[in-house]
Amino acid sequence: MPGAIRVRCLEALGEREIEGLSDVLIDCVEGGASVSFMLPMSRAKAEGYWRGTLESVARGERVLLAAEDAAGTIVGTIQVVLNQPENQPHRGDIAKTLVHRRARRRGVGAALLAAAERSALGAGKTLLVLDTASSDAERLYARHGWQRSGQIPNYALWPNGTPCATTIFFKFLREGTRPEGAATTAENCTDHPPERD
Ligand SMILES: CC(C)(COP(=O)(O)OP(=O)(O)OC[C@H]1O[C@@H](n2cnc3c(N)ncnc32)[C@H](O)[C@@H]1OP(=O)(O)O)[C@@H](O)C(=O)NCCC(=O)NCCS
Repeated sequence: MPGAIRVRCLEALGEREIEGLSDVLIDCVEGGASVSFMLPMSRAKAEGYWRGTLESVARGERVLLAAEDAAGTIVGTIQVVLNQPENQPHRGDIAKTLVHRRARRRGVGAALLAAAERSALGAGKTLLVLDTASSDAERLYARHGWQRSGQIPNYALWPNGTPCATTIFFKFLREGTRPEGAATTAENCTDHPPERD
């Protein structure tokens, strides 16, 4: 487990949170991660993305989690997208699993994923889906019980413009199970009512 890492649910983003999340996003894109953005990755693009994400959180469409170190600096983040078509009320998507390069390989990604799974369960979700172009992320998801569904070639672009494939993963969640890594301090931030009928 990462020492003194706290995973927190962000419901209202102040300028400190916008800045910290933007630092993480910019670092990941500049480090070559295929996470929607191309180089050059400006701060304006990053801040605009997080402000839009906050509006989506406020509408109850998604849960936004941040991992903070002992000094309160945001070192990683993850989202659970809750709003889905009405015929998929049990499903959620995991999106934007991001850890700053200087905080990697210490279990922050694992702690974020465990907290996201708990949040999804708390919101009544029993199936999670994601796609990733990162082999580091593929190992993380596989270690936490996610199943690899398949790969789509030429799905997106790396930040430098070359094509990249994406790999689809899914995981069934069950009430009463405790996602690995769940010992990390984390707020329960899913007060959303289950979407099941
Ligand atoms: C994928 C990503 C989120 C993983 O974050 P992370 O914090 O490094 O993840 P973890 O620390 O939990 O696991 C990473 C590795 O460190 C190892 N590790 C964990 N804790 C450790 C510790 N205390 N000491 C040594 N190694 C450790 C894990 O076993 C894992 O090993 P592996 O590379 O053999 O699989 C991160 O690499 C990232 O942000 N990548 C760029 C963005 C991206 O592409 N995200 C995916 C979008 S879907």
